[in-house]
Amino acid sequence: MHPSELKECRILVVDDEEPNVRVLRRLLTRAGYREVESTTDPREVSRIFHEFQPDLLLLDLRMPHMDGFEIMEYLQGEVPEGEYFPILVLTGDLSREVRERALSMGARDFVTKPFESTEALLRIKNLLEARVLHLQLQAHNQTLEERVRERTRDLAEAQLEILNRLAVAAEYRDDLTGRHAERVGLLSALIARELGLPPEMVRLIRRAATLHDVGKIGVSDSILMKPGALTPKEYEQMKLHTEIGARILSGSRFPLLKLASEIATSHHEWWNGQGYGEGLVGEEIPISGRIVAVADVFDSLTHKRPYKQAFHRDEALGLIREGRGEQFDPAVVDAFMKLVEEGVVDQLDELVGRAAFVSTDPEGLEVNLPGAPPRTA
Ligand SMILES: [Fe+2]
Repeated sequence: MHPSELKECRILVVDDEEPNVRVLRRLLTRAGYREVESTTDPREVSRIFHEFQPDLLLLDLRMPHMDGFEIMEYLQGEVPEGEYFPILVLTGDLSREVRERALSMGARDFVTKPFESTEALLRIKNLLEARVLHLQLQAHNQTLEERVRERTRDLAEAQLEILNRLAVAAEYRDDLTGRHAERVGLLSALIARELGLPPEMVRLIRRAATLHDVGKIGVSDSILMKPGALTPKEYEQMKLHTEIGARILSGSRFPLLKLASEIATSHHEWWNGQGYGEGLVGEEIPISGRIVAVADVFDSLTHKRPYKQAFHRDEALGLIREGRGEQFDPAVVDAFMKLVEEGVVDQLDELVGRAAFVSTDPEGLEVNLPGAPPRTA
């Protein structure tokens, strides 16, 4: 530590006897301390403490109006928890009782009156050194914490971006815009919110649903891109994408990937048990899969693919309505239709373009929608 650092420290002297204050001020000034403040009225301490913000307090114990112990008691409430603010007690009475009481109330050291200059200056220097080291450590810790926060944010952002790019890669051959996965993610999250699922689940579905068709990576071009109907054999191959997706995503310890695996397996199950995956029925099908089923079918129908034209919105809505209670969970269809009525579904493309990878919004939606519940954060 450079000696000049100590000389910049702020020292407050509180003693009701003017001659004592004068001696100390002279001593400190001669030793090179530039920032010295003093008072003979202990009632001034609170004001000076806040204005001057001292690094060290030289404190007399016996004073009228407010003695040194009362000042120490007051400071206990003012000095933040964990902060090192040294108090050097100036006293003629160094009885054991006084020492113990002062130490228990925050005193760090003592100087006996009348002062012995060299000793007093050494004690002052020691306490200021400890104070400066403490402040340096505090600043260092703060910088480290900020860096850790920054890195954590970067890491989270990178992870989400990689997942998103994986979803785009999976749909690269048959989605001309690369936005199907994102729209299904957002629409699924909106339906989940409409159904009243917890914000954490809404946030996870938003990301996990984008990977629903990741297994298409394992389906050949001739089947995936075939215009018109598939032969039964080709259809069996196509159906494998749920299983391939689950294999790609399974075994992770992260909730997001666990949910993505669940969605990949279950998004082609039908409410009436006629779908594929594991052949589940009704509520046996995970709610995530039931939600993505509606979002995926609607978005696939309403967008053009290399092998098919887009359906008109109302035609697609009609098909979803027809599937209520057959292909789709009725409650999920109802929640979806509510979003349609609110006009949200028609804004999906725009909303997807606006939302960021990482959101401060607890549901990760980061979009203000008509009919959305009020934001608390
Ligand atoms: Fe699929």
